[in-house]
Amino acid sequence: MAKSTIFFLLFLSFSVLLHNVTALDDIRCLQELKESFKDPNGNLNSWNFSNYSMGFIRKFIGVSCWNNLENRVLSLSLPNMNLSGQLPDAFKYCSSLTTLELSGNRLSGSFGDL
Ligand SMILES: *[C@@H]1O[C@H](CO)[C@@H](O)[C@H](O)[C@H]1NC(C)=O
Ligand SMILES: *[C@@H]1O[C@H](CO)[C@@H](O)[C@H](O)[C@H]1NC(C)=O
Ligand SMILES: *[C@@H]1O[C@H](CO)[C@@H](O)[C@H](O)[C@H]1NC(C)=O
Repeated sequence: MAKSTIFFLLFLSFSVLLHNVTALDDIRCLQELKESFKDPNGNLNSWNFSNYSMGFIRKFIGVSCWNNLENRVLSLSLPNMNLSGQLPDAFKYCSSLTTLELSGNRLSGSFGDL
C-alpha cells in the first residue's frame, strides 16, 4: 500500500472517531437536560435513550437535528411544557445548537459561559 493511502486511511478513521465523539456529546447533552428538568406532565417521554440508532434523537419532541443521519442537535424548542428545575451545564455538550426556546417554563439558573 502506498504511503499516501495509509495516511488517507488514518485520516479517515480519525474523522469518523471525532465525528462519533461529537454525536455522543449531543446525546449526553439531551440526557442531562432530561435528568435535570422536572417534567410533571411527561412532555419529554419521547426522550428515550434506550435505543441508540442513527439519528434517533430527531424523533424526540422539540429536538431538530442538522440531518437525519447524525445525532447533532440544531435547535431545541420546549416552550410551555411545565418544565421546572435548574438549567444544567449540559448545554455545553450541545455544541451545534443554534436555537433554544424554553419560554413558558419555570427554569432557573443561568447559562454560565456557553
Ligand atoms: C424506552 O424504550 C424501550 C424500548 O423501545 C422501552 O422498553 C422503555 O420502557 C422506554 N423507556 C421509557 C422511559 O419510556
Ligand atoms: C431501535 O430503533 C430501531 C430503528 O429505529 C428499530 O428498528 C428497533 O426496533 C428499535 N428497538 C427497540 C428495542 O425499540
Ligand atoms: C401544564 O400544567 C397545567 C396545570 O397543571 C395543565 O393544565 C397543562 O395541560 C400543562 N401543559 C402541558 C403542555 O403539559
